[in-house]
Amino acid sequence: ADPLVILTERLAPAFAAVRDAACAEAGTDPATVPAPPTVRRSDRADFQADGALPLAKRLGRNPREVAAEVQEAATAALEGLVAELELAGPGFLNLTLDDGAVADLARRAHADAALDVAPDADAGTVVVDYSAPNVAKEMHVGHLRSTVIGDALVRVLERLGHTVVRENHVGDWGTPFGMLIEHLVDVGEDTAVAELSVGDLNGFYQAARASFDGDDAFKERARRRVVSLQAGDPETLRLWRILVDQSTEYFQTVYDRLGVRLTPDDVVGESAYNDALPAVVADLDAAGILVLDDGAECVFPPGFTNRDGEPQPMIVRKGDGGYGYAATDLATIRQRVDVTGAERILYVVGAPQRDHLEMVFAVARMAGWLPDDVVAEHVPFGNLLGADGKMFKTRAGTSVRLVDLLDEAVDRARDAIAERNPDLVGEEAEAVAAAVGIGAIKYADLSSDRVKDYVLDFDRMLAFEGATGPYLQYAHARIRSIFRRGEVDVGTLTADVDLALGQPQERALALALLGFEGAVRDTARTSQPHRLCGHLFDLAQTFTSFYEACPVLKADDEATRASRLVLCDLTARTLAAGLDLLGIAAPDRM
Ligand code: ARG
Repeated sequence: ADPLVILTERLAPAFAAVRDAACAEAGTDPATVPAPPTVRRSDRADFQADGALPLAKRLGRNPREVAAEVQEAATAALEGLVAELELAGPGFLNLTLDDGAVADLARRAHADAALDVAPDADAGTVVVDYSAPNVAKEMHVGHLRSTVIGDALVRVLERLGHTVVRENHVGDWGTPFGMLIEHLVDVGEDTAVAELSVGDLNGFYQAARASFDGDDAFKERARRRVVSLQAGDPETLRLWRILVDQSTEYFQTVYDRLGVRLTPDDVVGESAYNDALPAVVADLDAAGILVLDDGAECVFPPGFTNRDGEPQPMIVRKGDGGYGYAATDLATIRQRVDVTGAERILYVVGAPQRDHLEMVFAVARMAGWLPDDVVAEHVPFGNLLGADGKMFKTRAGTSVRLVDLLDEAVDRARDAIAERNPDLVGEEAEAVAAAVGIGAIKYADLSSDRVKDYVLDFDRMLAFEGATGPYLQYAHARIRSIFRRGEVDVGTLTADVDLALGQPQERALALALLGFEGAVRDTARTSQPHRLCGHLFDLAQTFTSFYEACPVLKADDEATRASRLVLCDLTARTLAAGLDLLGIAAPDRM
């Protein structure tokens, strides 16, 4: 358990008691006055609770007095856990943990295969909508971000005991399929399959596009083909299936290479909701919120306006009778709520789709399909930029194929590994190169605040210094090498060893280790993997300071050696577990 979590739990009743007493005196309803302890790590002591300041403000009282009352009320609950509880500044409470309590908690984490990270008390069913590339179109770097971020969230939520349903909402329907199918007919099925199976999706798409733009007869065929597709013509569906199957097989090769959890079973493409679309329109109409606007069937959710300040419609069905992207997303929400039983739905989709998703959520709430107790959350992310700070493009100005990006990272990692550790050869060297190259890309992506654009800089993300994937992987491998050098079998480290935290670096390391649970919880709550990344980086740095100051294999006595080995092992396991939650492998040697 994380002391930050325990302190928050134990301080909460004291804050509430002080609040209740003040409210009783003033005759206010305590339910209207929040009183969270607001505990954070601190440099002055181990932790600081700042909650007295906003509480005093709400109560119109002196913050130092409020803090003093909390201090008094909390003393009993903190017995044994906190060695010193000090009132400081305008009304902060500084908390220094008892050394024995820190040692106990660290020992507990070490003895537990799950590192003493408890499941969320309110764990439920969460749908994570991520990756979602488009059939017969190359996955681009935006899909990479969605895939990497979504997969980390899936892992973190699963780790905390949630039932996670992964959904890959592949773009497999709509007008482009008229042109794609006609192009398939023109080149012949065998040629098309050959092209698509090796992942030449761009070539296929662009050739189809060229015919469509340059040939009126083709355009007309494409138009009729869309009609046949929507009418469910069997031959057209058979051809469409070829495109879908080839593309999804190719996407799966990319997922396998990336080491993400997505499988073919997670694909629930847009086409899966076709049959539900007429009911979406009919039910919106029955609910009295469907409006005919310029021939199109629309809903006007309150609060959405266009650039000129006029109400903005969400088009459900176009004038030509075709259903749009929004209609499909509405049908998807109904399915996720009614059938899957989702309590939280995360949409890991680029920031430009914010308005679309916000409108879909608003309309779904108006229609009663998204009840108040179900959370629908857009998890947006920014663009990937090149080292020049502009949109990431090839030299020719076209968008970069995701696989080329992965190849480059792994090639560079292979060179770096060969230089650093020539002993590593053959299959192991190749596996490490893949782990380091892919890990570098993932860590670079996950460690930056996701809503911001981030610069893809191979040199920086593959560096073994600084906040990078390789640095964390190396920190882990280096600890494993201590055990190899000392010929210590981790299995022989006993659970009841007395942890010595006499050196400040030992104590600091133990505290950093105990912060893992809070970092995992924070990431699950906020859908921000960079919080976990930051924690792991701090942990690795804290370990380095410890290792520089505290000899392990050559410790002065057996007891100290045993204690430090436990700290080392717990650090290695925590780093490996944290990296795994980010979808990053942690090789034992590199
Ligand atoms: N296929 C879409 C794209 O490539 C993303 C789909 C996101 N998910 C959703 N439910 N709309 O932009």
